[in-house]
Amino acid sequence: MRRKMIAGNWKMNKITAEAIELANGLKRELYKIDDVDIVVCPPFTALEEVSEATYESNIKLGAQNMHWEESGAFTGEIAPMMLKDLGCEFVILGHSERRLYFHETNDTVNKKTKAALKAGLTPIVCVGETLQEREAGKTFEVIQDHVYNSLKDLTEEELAKIIIAYEPVWAIGTGKTASPEQAQEVHKFIRDLLKKKYSEVLAEEIVILYGGSVKPGNTKELVNQIDIDGALVGGASLDVKNFSEIVNAASTCGTK
Ligand code: PGA
Repeated sequence: MRRKMIAGNWKMNKITAEAIELANGLKRELYKIDDVDIVVCPPFTALEEVSEATYESNIKLGAQNMHWEESGAFTGEIAPMMLKDLGCEFVILGHSERRLYFHETNDTVNKKTKAALKAGLTPIVCVGETLQEREAGKTFEVIQDHVYNSLKDLTEEELAKIIIAYEPVWAIGTGKTASPEQAQEVHKFIRDLLKKKYSEVLAEEIVILYGGSVKPGNTKELVNQIDIDGALVGGASLDVKNFSEIVNAASTCGTK
């Protein structure tokens, strides 16, 4: 059985006082939820404060990126252990904004995924096609490339520890959500890929989130799809009411 998860990607938003306020609001609204893993991913600058605010609550902490090296002369970068040190359990890797604006490739995402696992962090590895790729009929080709190459050379045991987020680039921050059927089709494709390359057990165990304009009003129909285990939420995760409603909506969906 797979646990449901709702993760909030705060992106480059919230100074520390705002981040604490949001974390405290979520704690207040969501303390009763025990059937959904709730994760918040604030910017690096607010990790420590949000870690303190969510300590011993049902809200877990994640970061939005990291470097793959353990330490050294990498000005401006953050190492996996620095995230662990602040109480992070998760890290988003290979988000399309990082692939697009910061030249991340499957290769760097792969290095980061291995480094995160080594440090005991759970990577949330993002995959997804652009509008151009979808319209050219290349969706499955791109997804296969992202999944196989971002996760290259991981053992089945390691793969069982990661989370995949399917985020069609055309649906991120655009207000255009993939329909439940469109999302389900790709989620099933990812599970089938894992079944083919690894095993049925792994394909059944791995948590796959959907991301791209998830809102309170569309959460239920997405998370009710057989292969969708939750959501990675951007814009709507910046507001206590919206994010709480999304978590509550996921909580009413059955487990798979
Ligand atoms: P969005 O972002 O919910 O604002 O579309 C999703 C994401 O980038 O993870």
